[in-house]
Amino acid sequence: MPATKKKNVKKSNTIKLKFDTSWNYAPAPESKSAATIKKQYDLFINGEWVKPLSHKYFDTSDPANEEKLSEVAEANAADVDRAVKAARNAYEKVWKKMPAKERAKYIFRIARMVQERARELAIIESMDGGKPIRESRDFDIPTAANHFFYYAGWADKLDYAFPNRNTNPLGVAGQIIPWNFPLLMAAWKIAPALATGNTVVLKPAETTPLTALKLAEIIQESGLPEGVVNIVSGGGATGAAIVNHPDINKIAFTGSTEVGKLIQKSIAGTNKKITLELGGKAANIIFEDAPIDQAVEGVINGVYFNQGHVCCAGSRLYIQESVAPELIRKLRDRIETLIVGDPLDKNTDIGAINSKQQLDTIRRYLKIGKEEGYEMYESSCPLPAKGYWCRPTIFTDVAQSARIAQEEIFGPVLAILTFRTDDEVIQKANNTPYGLSAGVWTDKGSKIFNLTKRMRAGVIWANTFNKFDPSSPFGGYKESGFGREGGLHGLLPYVNLSH
Ligand code: NAI
Ligand code: MG
Repeated sequence: MPATKKKNVKKSNTIKLKFDTSWNYAPAPESKSAATIKKQYDLFINGEWVKPLSHKYFDTSDPANEEKLSEVAEANAADVDRAVKAARNAYEKVWKKMPAKERAKYIFRIARMVQERARELAIIESMDGGKPIRESRDFDIPTAANHFFYYAGWADKLDYAFPNRNTNPLGVAGQIIPWNFPLLMAAWKIAPALATGNTVVLKPAETTPLTALKLAEIIQESGLPEGVVNIVSGGGATGAAIVNHPDINKIAFTGSTEVGKLIQKSIAGTNKKITLELGGKAANIIFEDAPIDQAVEGVINGVYFNQGHVCCAGSRLYIQESVAPELIRKLRDRIETLIVGDPLDKNTDIGAINSKQQLDTIRRYLKIGKEEGYEMYESSCPLPAKGYWCRPTIFTDVAQSARIAQEEIFGPVLAILTFRTDDEVIQKANNTPYGLSAGVWTDKGSKIFNLTKRMRAGVIWANTFNKFDPSSPFGGYKESGFGREGGLHGLLPYVNLSH
């Protein structure tokens, strides 16, 4: 807890923290001058920047102050067709024929270049998407570089990944990514595709296209053969043009369950392969024997990390009854100390909500929670006058059936529920349409193994939360999607195996 907040110790033994702005940290903003953002970005097709055939551009802005950062091309179906043709040509003529160890060199080079430009990429990520610079600097960008490093290592070792099988690339992969981890999602998609010998047409999300376009600059400079990676900006219609293009062999999508279902319908009857990484409503379970203070930090990190714009956010907290009052008090105190504000400030814990649209969604859920009658506690921190902001919020005594306990909010909002027994909590934790991630906090190793075996979630963290590593597979059950990204498993969606 920062020593900057005033404590009022009340007689009742509850500590109530009051936000006192006179004791705030001095501003420590990262410099915008370290980042070069062009006024306008075209499409990156066949190794070149080309004007969109659509003749259209759209603005991308900074959600912390609503100021325009740049305008980017909006690819239509004809532009997508051009990108797919470039990718096909590069696949047939160059990439699939290239010895794997040569492919690996390019991927290593991209990884190193991402590292070299980490500072600039982090600043742009925070400006375009609203996430705190501490996260983009310490998590998004280094993890993106690590992903390229990791898959570069696999490129010439596929025979060891799949012993006694022949691996063949699929061809052209169409990849559509969301706005919550823009560069990291691009790395998750591009790195395994290239390592296995596929070529790529990638579309970044419309509110956060800039780091993917910076990555295109890096790719161009890396000397990667033209057409191997093509980056086309645009919105839902551009995404749909990729999905429906007849010469695409594989679709990889991360985003909403709603669009995931649409995509699945559109490709039904084709032989396109598909992986979907969709929403989540992770259960984070705290037992009475857990290290409580550590768990408090884990919960805070689990739900408020990246403004809660995280598909695996621990947004449903189950606390064993006997420790619930203490934990809830500590969580309430803790959210009062979180610093909400300028994403570029190095002290910021919670940055801006990514878009007006997402803020509206979060507000709708806050209203629903209140209307359903749950007690809501929100930090009293001041919010900047411009931009999109949401205070960290907690709902207590939430029922299992509540919409705020069942539906993905994708914001800094925690629903707290309680339980008594293991069986009860497993049943409750599994009782959701999703199954992406979960967390368990307990002192007993045996309990961790017992529980995790019975939980339907792709990733389960024990006594920690939101930990990622390129070597560890990630993906969901049920409406959270299917297919895995990361690790050896992440190679599989990009290869055909034969004997
Ligand atoms: P979205 O699913 O509409 O957007 C994700 C990507 O899909 C973007 O690149 C978008 O341009 C593209 N897209 C949109 N419609 C498409 C279509 N018909 N065909 C192909 N591509 C299409 O997500 P949105 O509207 O930005 O967020 C809505 C909700 O989705 C959020 O509130 C959150 O609950 C969830 N979400 C989950 C994410 C995750 O990481 N699993 C990421 C982003 C959103
Ligand atoms: Mg933006």
